[in-house]
Amino acid sequence: MKVMVVGSGGREHALAWRLAQSPRVQTVFVAPGNGGTAREPGLQNVPITDLQQLAEFAEREDVAFTVVGPEAPLAAGIVDLFRGRGLRIFGPTQAAAQLESSKDFAKAFMKRHGIPTAEYETFTDAAAAHAYVDRRDAPIVIKADGLAAGKGVVVATSLDEAHQAIDAMLIDNRMGAAGARVVIEDFLAGEEASFIVLVDGRNVLTLASSQDHKRLRDNDQGPNTGGMGAYSPAPVVTPAIHARVMREIIMPTVNGMTRDGIPFTGFLYAGLMIDDTGQPRTLEFNCRMGDPETQPIMARIKSDLAAVFEKAIDGKLDEAEITWDRRTALGVVLAAHGYPDDPRKGDLINGLPANGNDADADCLVFHAGTYEKEGQIYSNGGRVLCVTGLGDSVKMAQTRAYQGVDTIHFAGMQCRRDIGFRAIARKRPDGA
Ligand code: AMP
Ligand code: GLY
Repeated sequence: MKVMVVGSGGREHALAWRLAQSPRVQTVFVAPGNGGTAREPGLQNVPITDLQQLAEFAEREDVAFTVVGPEAPLAAGIVDLFRGRGLRIFGPTQAAAQLESSKDFAKAFMKRHGIPTAEYETFTDAAAAHAYVDRRDAPIVIKADGLAAGKGVVVATSLDEAHQAIDAMLIDNRMGAAGARVVIEDFLAGEEASFIVLVDGRNVLTLASSQDHKRLRDNDQGPNTGGMGAYSPAPVVTPAIHARVMREIIMPTVNGMTRDGIPFTGFLYAGLMIDDTGQPRTLEFNCRMGDPETQPIMARIKSDLAAVFEKAIDGKLDEAEITWDRRTALGVVLAAHGYPDDPRKGDLINGLPANGNDADADCLVFHAGTYEKEGQIYSNGGRVLCVTGLGDSVKMAQTRAYQGVDTIHFAGMQCRRDIGFRAIARKRPDGA
């Protein structure tokens, strides 16, 4: 059968690569894909981003099902469109995608259903917002309501910074429509983790835990980015915390959406802050997989992933299971010169494996912002590659990943050298 992955990042390369190993999958179309998906055996790039044209392509090519990587097509209603034409697709409807596309929707939903999260209020009026932060005091967190590609959150350590963020969003319209409404919430301390599950409207299948590193530089310094590296599993999610997240966050969310008349289907990603008593709280919901969390997660999946998506689309996730590689997978992002503010494009990349990734390799190179031209690969965006190593411990996975990193060169390349440092300081929940 032929299947399709929508998107062009490292997440989509990893998803498509794993899907291509499914014995029943002949071709994975990637729309529009990147330089890595162009080279990967079994994958075929499709230069389409318009949603109507994608649906027409899926019909014409008899695509068995489509999986959506990024949030933008979900928020634009790709799932509603495909379903309306009788096409099989895994993802949330436009209404359900509001869990990610509107922070105010997500916060009101969590409050209504008793899901642990930071105290908050929502504002469109700057004077009221200024008065609120003066009352709550710093540190405090200012968030643009709408999708802002990871740039809509200001963790203000002083009141000055909080007031500036409010003015930037509500007065100067720096975030455009996304920042015309702001959510202001209390600062939460603790350790972050990404908790991602598949949902079919009713049943939930959990993926392995993961953790990403959002800051540009080592030791969590520098500006926030989309993610500079990630690993799976995340030792901070002990079995006891896993059970709490399922009981207090995931199941109430899935059941709450159904009760509100907007059943959730697709990936549900809870960005968690876990405090030192082990209480998890939701920082945000995404209605898609994480990038770069997907890369280490896909590296560890041993089951037939296409079969899992088919069960999910049929509402039979209770019959699906995933077998995991027990090893840790750790991915290091190689970013472009100038990332995150002004990434440079068009740098030639040397040292890449020529023919994609073997199914059983212990180091995988997933492309994100790259394109192929006359047999060469060039950078084409902020996050360029994610080199993912597998190993029996976090340290070994890290060593393997950096061996892979050290074979690759391009002008202006930036990467962190400490991905996994928190996990290395801890033991895995299963003791490995
Ligand atoms: P978000 O897009 O909501 O996940 O926010 C981006 C990043 O900002 C998160 O990964 C956290 O590092 C930080 N953050 C968001 N909300 C809070 C909060 N209430 N307290 C502390 N840090 C936060
Ligand atoms: N790595 C964080 C995200 O995908 O939202």
